[in-house]
Amino acid sequence: MRLLVCGGAGFIGSTFARQRVREHGDEVTVLDKLTYAGREENLRDLADDRSFRFVRGAIEDSDAVAGALAGADAEAIVNFAAETHVDRSIADPDAFVATHALGTYVLLEAARERELRYVQVSTDEVYGSIEQGTFTEESPLAPSSPYSATKAGADLLVQSYFHTYGLPAVICRGSNNYGPYQYPEKLIPLMILNALHGDQLPVYGDGMQVRNWIHSTDFARAIGHALEHGHAGEVYNAGGPDEEANIDVVRRIIALTDASESQIEHVKDRPGHDRRYSLSSQKVRALGWQPRMRFEQGLAETVGWYRENSWWWEPIRSGEYRAYYERQYGRALG
Ligand code: NAD
Ligand code: DAU
Repeated sequence: MRLLVCGGAGFIGSTFARQRVREHGDEVTVLDKLTYAGREENLRDLADDRSFRFVRGAIEDSDAVAGALAGADAEAIVNFAAETHVDRSIADPDAFVATHALGTYVLLEAARERELRYVQVSTDEVYGSIEQGTFTEESPLAPSSPYSATKAGADLLVQSYFHTYGLPAVICRGSNNYGPYQYPEKLIPLMILNALHGDQLPVYGDGMQVRNWIHSTDFARAIGHALEHGHAGEVYNAGGPDEEANIDVVRRIIALTDASESQIEHVKDRPGHDRRYSLSSQKVRALGWQPRMRFEQGLAETVGWYRENSWWWEPIRSGEYRAYYERQYGRALG
């Protein structure tokens, strides 16, 4: 397939681009604005591949989208482009509205005009928090943060393009991803790098919030399944095989890095913090997908990747991220 992968310089988008080029022989053009979270380094190993192109541009810029689609001669758009950090959405929601609402609209119009298949990459956070049981695709949307509310809005817009115009669109909603190339503002890479540097490990509130962990290669394959085999107009949830409380994730990281429990610091809770996420993946499993990586092994490999790839995180940890960290946590990184 010839694909336009929007937001493909980020954590999961770059994993997907690599999989499609290497394992499926697809031609991939990445369109990415390169925000603080987007990095061409994430695609370094694909840069010289004849099946790969990179275009810098924003999804809310219709000229940039038209140019990238023409250059790619694309058959489908897969949209990963998003602002993705809940804490940043609480501090400054502006870009979340622009990218998720306007950006998704521009991509949908472009797909409609050219009759392209469309995949929207979305999140379990659109369902809100669940104390017991698990969310299915039929569960009502009840987002709680500006991040999840604008992602839910984008999902509804995608569904309206299917119902109104017959656009062959699918939505794939994932649970919490972890793995290589994840920007260290997120729980797992933040804790790994802080543990390795002897910094404090800032656990929000009591640390008993539960997340449903999926390795990024598994989520990327689920999105590929939805692209190839999904039925137009449908939503597919892709949840990981393991759920764990944050404090237990942090304890695992301490053990894997030889850090100390005394580095744990319980800090002020996130406003409106969702207590638990859990996703049923029966529908995408029926398309032939299943997760391959269990959390215990995936986390150990992820710690290994961060240990061995300081070329990747050193420029981040010495740049804008330091200022963000001070604003968010009220203390400097060591
Ligand atoms: P990320 O923050 O690592 O990457 C986002 C990418 O989008 C970056 O490369 C950024 O430069 C790009 N981008 C942002 N705004 C853009 C714009 N206006 N135009 C073009 N490019 C833009 O995010 P991620 O964790 O890889 O998430 C990718 C997608 O998967 C998002 O849609 C997110 O909501 C969804 N998702 C993430 C997770 C998770 O746990 N990380 C789980 C489920 C779903
Ligand atoms: O569930 C899918 C979502 O997972 C994605 O849609 C989002 O893009 C992604 O960022 C992620 O959202 P979370 O808010 O769950 O991830 P985060 O890594 O920010 O936090 C995970 C949990 O850890 C959450 O309960 C908050 C907690 N936490 C996080 C940080 C950064 C802490 O206790 N301390 C921290 O410093």
